[in-house]
Amino acid sequence: MNAGIIGIGRYVPEQVVTNLDLEKRMDTSDEWIRTRTGIEERRIAGDDMDTSDLGLRAAQKALENANVSPEEIDMILVATVTPDQPFPSVACMLQEKLGAKKAAAMDVSAACAGFMYGMVTAKQFIETSAYKYVLIVGVEKLSKITDWEDRNTAVLFGDGAGAVLMGPVADGKGVLSFELGSDGSGGKYLYQDTNIRMNGREVFKFAVRQMGESSVNVLEKAGLSKEDVDFLIPHQANIRIMEAARQRLELPLEKMSKTVHKYGNTSAASIPISMVEELEAGKIKDGDLIVMVGFGGGLTWGAIALRWGR
Ligand code: UT7
Repeated sequence: MNAGIIGIGRYVPEQVVTNLDLEKRMDTSDEWIRTRTGIEERRIAGDDMDTSDLGLRAAQKALENANVSPEEIDMILVATVTPDQPFPSVACMLQEKLGAKKAAAMDVSAACAGFMYGMVTAKQFIETSAYKYVLIVGVEKLSKITDWEDRNTAVLFGDGAGAVLMGPVADGKGVLSFELGSDGSGGKYLYQDTNIRMNGREVFKFAVRQMGESSVNVLEKAGLSKEDVDFLIPHQANIRIMEAARQRLELPLEKMSKTVHKYGNTSAASIPISMVEELEAGKIKDGDLIVMVGFGGGLTWGAIALRWGR
């Protein structure tokens, strides 16, 4: 029994905040943000929308896309560091709002690597036949923990949601291999007190090393090589970090997903949002080998090699 993606959806809030808008608010420039991060604009949710509202919209689309009804979901996993409140979990809120009557529900806290942790957790339940359908939602409303006085972090983040429904797929399809990891000694480099705090340079060094290594490791575990990769979907934190991962896999530009310019860093939502956009653009096809890789506060990291299709 293999676990794969059978439905996918995304939602981003309508309000666009450009680099020029930020120039008016703080001591920064469009030029600095573009060249150091690749970000041009991001989406910010209004006061009327919390994390669960963003997640619900992405989840509904994923279920529609899979043609599976909420009553059939066995488990809901929500990867987020910006829940509406510490508890009840966002997953429980979605359980009610979706009407997922038989679903178990919990949040996963692994920051920007959370979506990878969620997918790998889902895979275990599906491949042991304990559960058939697991909904994984990566969602953040980072704007509510952003310090708008701190130019080191405020220019980087955005709000958004992505969701996948995972279930059994044909032999040779779905998740082929994975790697998850953590290093709590680096927790001091990226954390929340009231707002997000970050030592950008330390996180940058860690990310460049980890994204490349984890990508190579999942290929090795699947018995595949760099030449087999059709598409890389890296966590969208910074174009320079993403580029380092792409170069490590020796992939041409067009084989890497890039949405960071439009949405900034949406943490746990960035990988599924990017995946939806590539699918909609017709770039991911049945049978393609996809490598997804993320890193984040914790420190945490995770990567998956997946053969697209049901
Ligand atoms: O999902 C995980 C989340 N975190 C990350 O992915 C962050 C990883 N780190 C990074 O992406 C980069 O380190 C940053 C984009 C955060 C910073 O880029 P950098 O090339 O590492 O710049 P830096 O921290 O070395 O700072 C260079 C200069 C500093 O000025 P001085 O000390 O050289 O005079 C900063 O004060 O740029 C200054 N600076 C800014 N200037 C204009 C920092 N932020 C800004 C800003 N606008 N927004």
